[in-house]
This record gives sequence, structure tokens and C-alpha cells, in this order.
Amino acid sequence: MKKRVLAGIRATGRLHLGNYLGAIKGMLILQESNEYETIYMVADAHTLTTPFDVAQLRKNRREVIIDYLSAGLNPEKSIIFLQSDIPEHFELAFYFSSLMSIARMQHLPTYKEKIKQYPNDNTMSLLNYPILMASDILIYKAGLVPVGIDQEPHLEVAREIARKMNQKYHTDFPEPIRFITKGEYIPSLTGEGKMSKSVEGSYINLTDTIDVVRKKIRSVATATKVGGQMTKGVQTLFTLTDFYLPEEKNRFKQAYDNGTLQFVELKDAITEAIYKELAPIQEKRYDIEKDTTYINSVIVQGAEKAHAIARQTMKEVKEKIGLL
Ligand code: TRP
Repeated sequence: MKKRVLAGIRATGRLHLGNYLGAIKGMLILQESNEYETIYMVADAHTLTTPFDVAQLRKNRREVIIDYLSAGLNPEKSIIFLQSDIPEHFELAFYFSSLMSIARMQHLPTYKEKIKQYPNDNTMSLLNYPILMASDILIYKAGLVPVGIDQEPHLEVAREIARKMNQKYHTDFPEPIRFITKGEYIPSLTGEGKMSKSVEGSYINLTDTIDVVRKKIRSVATATKVGGQMTKGVQTLFTLTDFYLPEEKNRFKQAYDNGTLQFVELKDAITEAIYKELAPIQEKRYDIEKDTTYINSVIVQGAEKAHAIARQTMKEVKEKIGLL
């Protein structure tokens, strides 16, 4: 049997460059490798763990499917589905939650960050977030997960759950590891933290026009510090140069060191290179988004395939736990 891969992105908006470089590129590599059975999900139910808008969620869960397809995820090669279509994820998550202590979950850095960001929404679903994520992965017995480095603590939880389940109930869950890509950490355009949908001005959407990309890149702060240290904004520009202009990197770096760098020139070169990658994705999107029937069929067929696997795992687990 082929090894399985599972990945997911929350349905909080259209996808941005950080999602693309950090997760989707890895998803594409694995899809094309032939060594793996690839299963790609939109984590729409996970969106409920932080404040959300119903109409937005309804729209965004489809937008992420459209972004996936536009970026090259292929329903002939990968199972593409919506998390909430497979109720077994939630069923398994409940059984898993019996193995994890409240204290363990409260100590996760992602949880602490979110309750700082949303102090009035410290809910059970937020505390349970990593347990549902473990269920997303383990219900398919996936051993490989292409996600950014910030998700590592969640994968540790998934490994711990797999170990405990196997010890206690003699199941055969793998201990999933992260599939690492070069783009695992894309800095925010604001210079603080990573590119993130929840921080305005931090990201470039896959659907941004070249004018919008230029405007966003030009607005990265490049004021210099005394002492010649690179500011955060300049560091962001050089990280993007690493990705998009590897051959010209040294030339720009030397100009920077000599104090002769024209930031507008660097910024516009980055813009051109980023847009070169976005243009074909946008062309594909233009065709796909009109084809409602196709999008619906991808969602329905993906759910059928995912459901068949999930049902089988649930049956095994219920038998081992004593519920069947
Ligand atoms: N937590 C992931 C993120 O924020 C999204 C996610 C949910 C996920 N379930 C998953 C990722 C399962 C990989 C596997 O990016």
C-alpha cells in the first residue's frame, strides 16, 4: 500500500503567498511523486475555533477549493475534500480527547497566541483544535504532512495520540512527520512575524493583480538603521529575493552593503518575479471559478473517496475501544 499524505488549510479567506510557498508547493511535489496517496482537505470546521462570519465561511470554503485547483492540485491524482463533509473526523477527535489532559493542551504555543488575540473567545473548540487536527491526519493513517513550521507543535500532539492509541488499544496509527519545504516560513510584509491572513498588510493573495503586488511590495518599509543593521522590512525583501531572484541575490546584497542599492529597483524586480508565478494560477482560476458544476463534482467525489477510508478507520477504532 502507498504511504499517505494529508494536508489542510483553514477556510479563513483566499490563499496567500505564504500558504502557497509553505504548504501548497509541498502538496504539489508529493502529488506528482507517485510514491504517495495524497489527500488534501479544506479545514472548514477548524474555522469555527476563532470568531468567524457565517456568510464568509460559506464563501471561503469554496474559495480554498478553487485556489487548490488553480494552483495545480488535481482531483485525478489527489483526494480533495471539505473536512465538514466527513463526520468521522469529529467522532474520532472525541475518542482521542480522552487521552489528552487539559493541562497538556493549554500549554501549546498556538493556543496561547490565540487566546491572547481573542481573549473573549477562549473556547473548548480552540483548546481541542490540535486534537481535531490529529484526527484529520490519523483517520487516513497519513504519515506525512506538508505544513509550515508553526504547525510542528500540533504534529507532536498527533504523534503522542498515535503512540497512546497504539499502546492502549493496539491500533496501527503511524506517527506523522512534517514534510519540509524551503518556503516553510515566509515573513510578513510588515516585517513582524509571518505572512498571515489575520494580519492586514502582511500578505500577497494568489489573486492579487500585478499592480496590487507592486503596491504591497513597494510599501515594505526600508528606512535604514544607524549602524548598518538590516531592518525587518529589508530582511523580508531579502528573503523574498532568496526565493524569487536567486541568481541576482548577490548583486543586490552587494549593492546594499555598498549603500548603492535602489530599493525601488529591488522591489520591482521582486514584484515581476512573484507575478510570473501568480499569472498562470490566475489564468487557471479564471476558467475554473466559472465552472460551478465542475467544482461541485470535485467536492462530491472527494468526499466519497475520503469517506470510504474514514469509515474503515472508525470501524477498526470502535472495535478496539469496545464500542463495536
Ligand atoms: N492547523 C493547520 C493550519 O493552520 C490547518 C489544518 C487543520 C491542518 N487540519 C490539518 C494541516 C491537518 C495539516 C493536517 O495551517
